[in-house]
Amino acid sequence: MLAVAVLAAGKGTRMKSDLPKVLQPLGGATLVERVLASCNNLAPQRQILIVGHQAERVEQSLSHKPGLEFVLQQPQNGTGHAVQQLLEPLADFDGDLLVLNGDVPLLREQTITNLLEQHRTSGAAVTLLTARLSDPTGYGRVFADHEGKVSAIVEHRDCDDSQRSNNLINAGIYCFNWRQLAAVLPKLSTNNDQGELYLTDTVGMLSPAMHLEVDDADEINGINDRLQLAQCEAVIQERLRQHWMREGVTFVDPGSCTLSDDTRFGRDVVVEPQCHFRGVNTIGDGCRIGPGSLIENARIGDGVEILYSVVRDAVVASGCAIGPYAQLRPGSDLGEGCRVGNFVEIKQSSLAAGCKVNHLSYIGDAALGANVNVGAGTITANYDGVNKHRTVIGHDSKTGANCVLVAPINLGANVTVGAGSTLTKDVPSGALALGRAKQLVKENWQPPR
Ligand code: UD1
Ligand code: CA
Repeated sequence: MLAVAVLAAGKGTRMKSDLPKVLQPLGGATLVERVLASCNNLAPQRQILIVGHQAERVEQSLSHKPGLEFVLQQPQNGTGHAVQQLLEPLADFDGDLLVLNGDVPLLREQTITNLLEQHRTSGAAVTLLTARLSDPTGYGRVFADHEGKVSAIVEHRDCDDSQRSNNLINAGIYCFNWRQLAAVLPKLSTNNDQGELYLTDTVGMLSPAMHLEVDDADEINGINDRLQLAQCEAVIQERLRQHWMREGVTFVDPGSCTLSDDTRFGRDVVVEPQCHFRGVNTIGDGCRIGPGSLIENARIGDGVEILYSVVRDAVVASGCAIGPYAQLRPGSDLGEGCRVGNFVEIKQSSLAAGCKVNHLSYIGDAALGANVNVGAGTITANYDGVNKHRTVIGHDSKTGANCVLVAPINLGANVTVGAGSTLTKDVPSGALALGRAKQLVKENWQPPR
């Protein structure tokens, strides 16, 4: 039997933020989401989050997680006090308790599996993860013999100078025999620099207490301030880029690009410098993205080129060319082989295959049939100040330069709109529509003196 408890009640004073620390974003997810994800495949019988500071907000952010229990710790009197809150909900539980710090988000699932395995085969009362750090500042120091038996953990601020030179640190990840832990939890005292109940003090009361040292110290990075948040972000980004380079993506300047966990690339994609992928993206084979593009929640087909552009909540079919300097806003849906050029904004609009919107346009709340050619500077005037209205343009129609289509409006197929037209009425298929002032020419005109 396995129960998992994640400590997430602390305020995170050192973040200097209105947001509770465990809700700080890291690589597109919150810290606590990442911690929970690291034990997804362990299939624990119980999964408990200990909440306190801004508890409602933390619970709210995880309301979509089935089976997750919340236990309130009020006030927050230290990590030992946090785990004391489990005495009641786990009164009948018999098995191992895995305790994870809500601010240690880079842990690999495999490492947790190794910890559980060692704990179970050794029969220890507690097994904790440790690491050797070149700079152990801030972490609790672990005192252990050469057989891996732990005698004590002393917090950085409670250490004397000689203890502080010990660079074996406590990662904040523990596997306890719950029955044995439950017996000693009530004995914790606040006899330390912070006047809190420390979970780490149970280690000296349990026997045998063992530790498992991780190979990759990056995994156990704890986040207490924004510097550590940025360092962890760098680790996540490096992991993601390396993964995708191994999968066959070319990054011209990897360090200048950022990725999200849920971005998937096809084969032979080239990502040029300064590109950022957020949210859930699929990028087809043979695409060339960038330089300088932001892609968020986009589905992009094969062989698409996107240059200096922003694509958000949009679908771009194969063979499209976007940019430079285009913005595809939410609800843009481009069929195969469309071209969207410079200084063009598209929102909540579908373009069937082969459309061209090459220069200086706004297309909003519109449906364009196949092969529509939108002339430079054509604008759909979709907003009357209160409501948004639709523009529909049939296949193979074209607008001249600098047209305004005042919605709601329907243009049929094969329509031609003369340059400079402002249209307010529907146009049937096959027609030429002109909506502009007649040109006046006064010959031999003398300007006033
Ligand atoms: C803790 C460990 C330290 C270890 C480090 C690893 C203790 C006493 N110290 O120190 O040995 O090296 O983690 O990162 O455990 N929390 C609660 N309730 C509380 C206090 C904290 O739920 O009353 C939660 C926090 O939200 C956080 C976690 O426990 O997720 C750790 O708390 P934090 O104050 O960051 O502990 P550290 O000082 O980093
Ligand atoms: Ca911490």
